[in-house]
Amino acid sequence: MEKDKIAIIMAAGKSTAMNSKKSKLVHKLYGKELVSRVVETAEKLDCDEIITVVGEQKEQVMEVLKDRTKYVEQKEILGTGHALLQVLPMLESKSGQVVILYGDVPIIKKETIEKLIDRNRNERESVTLLTAISDNPTGYGRIIRNDVGEVEEIVEEIYANERQKQIKEINSGIYCFDIETLVSTIKEVEPRDNGQIYLTDVVKAMRDKEFKIGAMIVEDNTEILGVNDRVQLELLGRVLKMRINTMHMLNGVTIEDSDTTYIYEDVKIGRDTVIHPNTTIKSDCVIGEDCEIGPNAYIREHSTLADKVKIGNCVEIKKTKVAYGSKVPHLSYMGDCEIGTGVNIGCGSITCNYDGVNKHKTIIGDDCFVGSNTNLVAPVTVGKNVLIAAGSTITENVPDDTLAIARQRQVNKVDWNKK
Ligand code: UD1
Ligand code: MG
Repeated sequence: MEKDKIAIIMAAGKSTAMNSKKSKLVHKLYGKELVSRVVETAEKLDCDEIITVVGEQKEQVMEVLKDRTKYVEQKEILGTGHALLQVLPMLESKSGQVVILYGDVPIIKKETIEKLIDRNRNERESVTLLTAISDNPTGYGRIIRNDVGEVEEIVEEIYANERQKQIKEINSGIYCFDIETLVSTIKEVEPRDNGQIYLTDVVKAMRDKEFKIGAMIVEDNTEILGVNDRVQLELLGRVLKMRINTMHMLNGVTIEDSDTTYIYEDVKIGRDTVIHPNTTIKSDCVIGEDCEIGPNAYIREHSTLADKVKIGNCVEIKKTKVAYGSKVPHLSYMGDCEIGTGVNIGCGSITCNYDGVNKHKTIIGDDCFVGSNTNLVAPVTVGKNVLIAAGSTITENVPDDTLAIARQRQVNKVDWNKK
């Protein structure tokens, strides 16, 4: 029989602590819904099937995920084991591996789950648990090992005795199971006195049948952090920020203040580029080498900066290409714009790219000098080597090598203001 790799995403639980009209799973972290992040990770694992267990506010979750996954509904929220039982009909004809993920544990790395799956396969374990060593294990299931270090069971906080509560190895809730063993064992798990069916009890049941159980300790505990409330949501944002910024710094980018630098995913930045504080760079941007991104800069999606470009203080750019060596040094908005090489955009200049209905393009040729406080009313094309007088409102195309002045002449009424 062909071996399958299946991912199940638990996403049926309540979001009470969020204090929100929305499910916590559709709240965003760095621009992506929590549950979308988990699906994205599952997609990267090359699974044959991704199944999401939905329940509370299921419409919202399904609206976000669309046909990226299959869905199974858990009509009553009766525990993690009960959630998995709902998927059982879809597993019964299969063999291979199934990995359990959570819609509210969104920053687990693909590499970690890959390791878990590989270990499960190579060691031929019936279940491989992802565990962590935590100085603050309160609230988590504790991993009970015997004298020779084998995992015997997981004991939930409410059922743990004082000695077990001292155990620092915790259950992340993420597991990789052998499908056939899981299917044959989970049916035997009885509900607890609180009516809940615990997925963790499958481990004990497997142990009783002498199936092989393994545990892999996660290296970086932040990966298994979950989101229950907005305080945790903010914490995960900070973890992700540091993870992304660290990657860029190790790649040769100088970040003056990582705390206030928000670089979204899918951004490329060249070596020796310097990023000043309070800066945001959105997804799908490409930034060259030796660029300088000033304080309070906002570089929005689909922008491309060539090498040696300067984006200065309080400058916003969107869907804009800036060619080699050009500068937008202060207080500007450039949207839907193409800027040639060797261009200087004067302080306060903006593109007027939106007419209330459509967005229009502005093209600025090589070696232009755009005077301060210029309005470029798009669509408009400014040729090469053009000088635009400060304070101009440019509504018509400008040919190469031209001086364009588009403003009222000044009138001085001498003595008009004398008492
Ligand atoms: C669970 C584990 C615990 C582990 C902890 C890690 C069990 C019994 N315990 O506890 O060992 O340390 O996670 O965070 O599994 N869910 C459903 N349907 C349900 C119940 C839960 O989809 O009926 C989903 C929730 O939406 C959530 C996840 O499963 O995403 C975990 O549920 P939660 O109630 O938080 O489990 P814990 O008590 O934290
Ligand atoms: Mg929990």
